[in-house]
Amino acid sequence: MIKKLLLALVLGGILIGGAAMLTFADSSWLTGTTDKKLNTLANIQPGLGTVMIEYSNRMGNMYYAAKAKNWGMAAYQLKEAVEIQEVGETTRPNRAGLLKGVENSSLKPLARDIVNKDFPTLQNDFNTMVTSCNACHMGTGYGYIAYELPTQPITPAKLDTNQSFTKEQLEKILGDLVGNK
Ligand code: HEC
Repeated sequence: MIKKLLLALVLGGILIGGAAMLTFADSSWLTGTTDKKLNTLANIQPGLGTVMIEYSNRMGNMYYAAKAKNWGMAAYQLKEAVEIQEVGETTRPNRAGLLKGVENSSLKPLARDIVNKDFPTLQNDFNTMVTSCNACHMGTGYGYIAYELPTQPITPAKLDTNQSFTKEQLEKILGDLVGNK
């Protein structure tokens, strides 16, 4: 009986809460003409400041995944880093050239190292990448943002999974970065 009462209360709470959220979502902040609404939405898309947080977190995760020989995870993190980079290229088109440049000069070698499962070379290429990242910060007036490899990865995912990966599997994850569509 008490259990049923509690359940009713909880469900009731969820319903009322849900209805309140609906009203909240409906209390339209997105107003005006379609053009104005699109502008409002465009203005809240992530710019480089937000993109760079995810971008840099993924780079650190990639490094530590490779170190733990979780090459699938390393490939995944690099691929996802490039995806968020592309969001930055879209919302900040005047930075797109520099970002693509770093992708070609510094991220593609990392992709190859992952496919080759070569951690020593990846460590070198990671250092080269850090230099290019920070050169862009310097060049865009953010010289005080000096990225460095964190002392540990940000991801809560277990990196040391003892799995093995074929070249083909890694190439598939990395796609474009290793010349695959
Ligand atoms: C287009 C040149 C450019 C490249 C290339 C670039 N960045 Fe950035 N980065 C920026 C700019 C500009 C900001 C400041 C963003 C803002 O406030 O608009 C930034 C901010 C950051 C921040 C600060 C994020 C925060 O707020 O905590 C980090 C960390 C960062 N970048 C890491 C990296 C890493 C790692 C790479 C290379 C893998 C990289 N960046 C490559 C331009 C670049």
